[in-house]
Amino acid sequence: MEPKFVHKPVMAAEVAQALQLKGNGVYADGTIGGGGHGAVILAGSSPNGWLYGCDRDGAAVEAARERLNREFAGRFELRRANFAELREWVPEGSCDGVLLDLGVSSAQLDWPERGFSFQAEGPLDMRMDTRQTLTAAQLVNEADGEELARIFWEYGGERESRRFARAIVKDRESRRFETTKQLADLIERLSPRQGRKAHPATKVFQAVRIAVNDEMGSLKRGLEGGMELLKPGGRLAVITFHSLEDRVVKDFGRTRARDYNVKGDVDVPELREPRRPELKLITRKAAQPSEMEMKENPRSRSAQLRVMEKV
Ligand SMILES: C[S@@+](CC[C@H](N)C(=O)[O-])C[C@H]1O[C@@H](n2cnc3c(N)ncnc32)[C@H](O)[C@@H]1O
Repeated sequence: MEPKFVHKPVMAAEVAQALQLKGNGVYADGTIGGGGHGAVILAGSSPNGWLYGCDRDGAAVEAARERLNREFAGRFELRRANFAELREWVPEGSCDGVLLDLGVSSAQLDWPERGFSFQAEGPLDMRMDTRQTLTAAQLVNEADGEELARIFWEYGGERESRRFARAIVKDRESRRFETTKQLADLIERLSPRQGRKAHPATKVFQAVRIAVNDEMGSLKRGLEGGMELLKPGGRLAVITFHSLEDRVVKDFGRTRARDYNVKGDVDVPELREPRRPELKLITRKAAQPSEMEMKENPRSRSAQLRVMEKV
């Protein structure tokens, strides 16, 4: 059954402050999800603020539309789209703030048919956009061992990446991987829990999800596009949930905050070419949820918020 898209927005107060919400501001939320942050943005920009919102997940867009219509009808436009393509429909230089709250929503995780979770049996799917053809099952059944090992290591930091990949390749000689449980059980057999809190398949599931949805590619394009939507002085706020994403956001901010260009791959101070920085870092160090929020919403634990301002 389809769960209700009631996603508790993570670091809502911090996001509202970061975006400096104002009464007639224009904002874009590239990960509208259940509309949690969307509602915060529209409430904080009442009475005339405007929100462009999108999500790759059609069910999320519908849920957000329904929720936001109850209170903020006529003040937003929502589309089912990848945030990497925001600049194709949101006017350049029109926004006072852009938000990306990455990863999956609680609704997606709690919906076994979507195949994101190893906690419940479901098809090995993991597509955020169900119109996409590549599924987790296709990747796990068809990628060669080297590719699987690379994905587990690069996107999951899984130390046993090679061993797990070899075992999958061997196992699939006799049967296809069709369900989340098949994959989770195989990993658990290879690496028994032995008192560990996290499920042994946590990293593999994260890695497969990132690969299936090309999350790193979208993030890089989304950051670049997001900056183009902003007016000078506008803010880009990004919430990440693992170090790989956070590093991409941190590097993006640092490179664009520099007042010089680097020639070639190595930064040689004598060869720097002065230029105007494109942005200012508002958070030098990523902000994290308060202790209270982490206690109330354990899924917020790994959240990190970075904020930058277009100059
Ligand atoms: C953590 S949830 C967002 C929750 C939302 N901020 C709220 O308060 O309800 C992440 C959402 O981002 C969406 N998403 C992830 N990558 C995306 C992308 N590249 N483009 C559009 N949506 C994406 C997912 O489908 C998911 O609904």
